[in-house]
Amino acid sequence: MESLQKNTLNEIYKKISSVIPEIEWKVHAPLIEKINKLKKDKNAVILAHNYQTPEIYHGVADISADSLALAVEASKTSADIIVLCGVHFMAETAKLMNPKKKVLIPDMSAGCSLASSITGEDVRMLKEKYPGVPVVSYVNTSAEVKAETDICCTSANAVKVVESLGVNKVIFLPDHYLANYVQKNTKVKIISWQGTCIVHEKFTGKEVENIRKENPDIKIIAHPECPPDVISASDFAGSTSTMVKYVKDNQPKKVLLVTECTMSDNVQVENPNVQFIKPCNLCPYMNKITLQKIYDCLKNESNEIKISHNIAAMARKSVQRMTAIGR
Ligand code: 13P
Ligand code: SF4
Repeated sequence: MESLQKNTLNEIYKKISSVIPEIEWKVHAPLIEKINKLKKDKNAVILAHNYQTPEIYHGVADISADSLALAVEASKTSADIIVLCGVHFMAETAKLMNPKKKVLIPDMSAGCSLASSITGEDVRMLKEKYPGVPVVSYVNTSAEVKAETDICCTSANAVKVVESLGVNKVIFLPDHYLANYVQKNTKVKIISWQGTCIVHEKFTGKEVENIRKENPDIKIIAHPECPPDVISASDFAGSTSTMVKYVKDNQPKKVLLVTECTMSDNVQVENPNVQFIKPCNLCPYMNKITLQKIYDCLKNESNEIKISHNIAAMARKSVQRMTAIGR
């Protein structure tokens, strides 16, 4: 049994050795082993966002995905405990999708600049200002905001969700840049909010153009949370899992993923023949999640997500309407 575990650990390290130095691995390996054992003992599942670090993404996650797939997977699991390695709104969404399960987040303070840019009170104010106009909220919002929302969306399905409503105007919140991206791809009039992602707003079109000049054969894929000049300077835009799939399917010689840069490490591991250019913008919230915190929260079953009954009942509907539409 012990040698079997060692083998598994060796296999994991073989996979990620190009992005994790041996000296770091010595710290990670015992924790990975303990977490994977605890997961079995407690019938727990670890759902991780694509931005989690390689030792989490490749070492302990059962499923690594974008926010849409994480919401769907959370609704399907038969595990007793879900540990959501990502930010708070993702863990809340998992709880909404599977209210009977215990949902834990390794660090309660893993927030999101978009989610904190708007409150339920702000949405009520918008609804008063634009009576009868449906509210589409990015899943990067609190349960309180989702409760005031007609339907949620993610970057993987924002245009499809907006067009599913069959109206000529929607309130789309809170990401101003995602709203801008949707507006470019639909005739529906978009009323937006002024939220931004502190990671993606830092990229500039100039930076992307310069990288292309230096690497004429490169493919550039941007996340729709980027400013419009970045998206125009890219080959296309898509959610984090769309980016992962593009690299896997197309095996470009060189690629730039214009998004949180930890993801490039994760994708590189699975695509050794692709060269990644990595301007490094890190999400300080995603980076709060560590193996030690995962172990502690699973061992103690601490940091449980709780949502009040009334808010949850309303918020759940807006997320379920989104997952019914799919990608
Ligand atoms: P995805 O839904 O594309 O995974 O994006 C979530 C996110 O927070 C990006 O910053
Ligand atoms: Fe929020 Fe931006 Fe971090 Fe994604 S990368 S979790 S949108 S702050």
